[in-house]
Amino acid sequence: MRKHMPPTRAPDGSRGTAMRHPRHKRKRPTADAATAAAAEHEVHPLADPARPIPNLACADRFEEYYRAQLGRLGVTGSEWTRFIKTLHAPLPVTFRVQPVGIGTLGDECRRSFDALQAAGGLPEVTPLPWCSSFAVEISKEALKTSHEPALAGLQTWLSKWGALGACTRQAIESMVPVALLKVEPDHVCLDMCASPGSKTTQAIEALYAGGAATGRGFMVANDASPTRCQMLLRRCAALGEMSERLLITCHPAQSLPWLPRLDASAEAEATAVGGEAGRYPAGCFDRIICDVPCSGDGTTRKNPSIWHRWSQEYALEMHPLQLQIAMRGLALLKVGGLLCYSTCSLNPLENEAVVAALLKRCAGAVEIVDCSRELPELHRAPGLTSWTVMDDALQEHESHAALQRSTALPAALKRRFVPSLWPPDPKEAKRKLHLDRCLRLLPHLANMGGFF
Ligand SMILES: C[S@@+](CC[C@H](N)C(=O)[O-])C[C@H]1O[C@@H](n2cnc3c(N)ncnc32)[C@H](O)[C@@H]1O
Repeated sequence: MRKHMPPTRAPDGSRGTAMRHPRHKRKRPTADAATAAAAEHEVHPLADPARPIPNLACADRFEEYYRAQLGRLGVTGSEWTRFIKTLHAPLPVTFRVQPVGIGTLGDECRRSFDALQAAGGLPEVTPLPWCSSFAVEISKEALKTSHEPALAGLQTWLSKWGALGACTRQAIESMVPVALLKVEPDHVCLDMCASPGSKTTQAIEALYAGGAATGRGFMVANDASPTRCQMLLRRCAALGEMSERLLITCHPAQSLPWLPRLDASAEAEATAVGGEAGRYPAGCFDRIICDVPCSGDGTTRKNPSIWHRWSQEYALEMHPLQLQIAMRGLALLKVGGLLCYSTCSLNPLENEAVVAALLKRCAGAVEIVDCSRELPELHRAPGLTSWTVMDDALQEHESHAALQRSTALPAALKRRFVPSLWPPDPKEAKRKLHLDRCLRLLPHLANMGGFF
């Protein structure tokens, strides 16, 4: 998403600071509880064995739910079968090698991998130049347990170059946000929910593109969980000198404070637009990675336990927090800056519904960038422009008002459905909000995990 201008009105139409929405104030305790819960989850609440397992067969409900949602993208018939089959198949082993031009380590690492391949015995290797990566057609589990000399060699190679910071195990889909953000050496970047740091390290490498630090750019990497910040720290420490341009913070992303002014023009800009200095401070970041906590149901290939725990209600839980984090991101973004909102969930309630709500609240101050010509090698589907909102019994609810009127649902459950879950008018969704410009990475299209 690109920011055109600071919003001239707060989302509620008042002249207060954009984030001070009375509805948010009322809901803040809920969001804080969700933050604590989300940050404590090791990324995917659906993969957490402590969560109750719903009674009905989860895999069947998953299929029923997503048949209704993704059918709107034409994922039906034989394509649906391929989609489901791929979701059950393990992922290939993928890793990113430090891009060419940063220093000698990445070059050495590539040469060493060429030698490993030349020695023979490895499964098929696919180079993915757009993200400086490779995919090896073997699952993580098979690689770990294999006694084949070539595979043992690959394991040793991955550990050695990983420890040196020249190579990072990372899912291909997770490399897309930073690739699209086109981070440049002068950019001031923020990763709002950064741990374990795959995207942070990828962006730092982009800051160093073209050689030693010549630009003035740097990275702020944040995560709400102290334990996960430790993981982030360890991963970033492997970058050696490159971590000099990194600041790690531990804070709920939805209330990240402003950075002290980074350049003198910021205050002038804020004054010019808002009329009063400080009312609408200009943002401080050129690029923001907003990879929010999510239900993670696009990761069944990595976390098969999701098939035993899936419930669409997790999306209801995540949506308000995701919206608050992304709103804060847009407030911190410079005019002309880019923010990439992403999840590893397939659920439109965590994806297009959040993006639609952001666009509406910002009332023309931000737009979805058309990325249709970017990364042409990447097979993708467009964003949904309509979707259905269902309860856990997979009953569809036409609108928020209709759901509130329903006598079939308990009041406590009704409270979990917020109006922003519902899709906008179809014409508005397509012609005004351009939700179809969103990118959906579906596992069967490019042999990867599900990602938005
Ligand atoms: C999807 S993971 C991020 C993955 C990371 N971007 C990467 O590519 O390596 C989401 C992260 O959000 C963190 N988190 C959860 N709630 C948060 C909040 N309110 N503010 C900031 N971080 C949060 C979790 O601790 C988790 O590490």
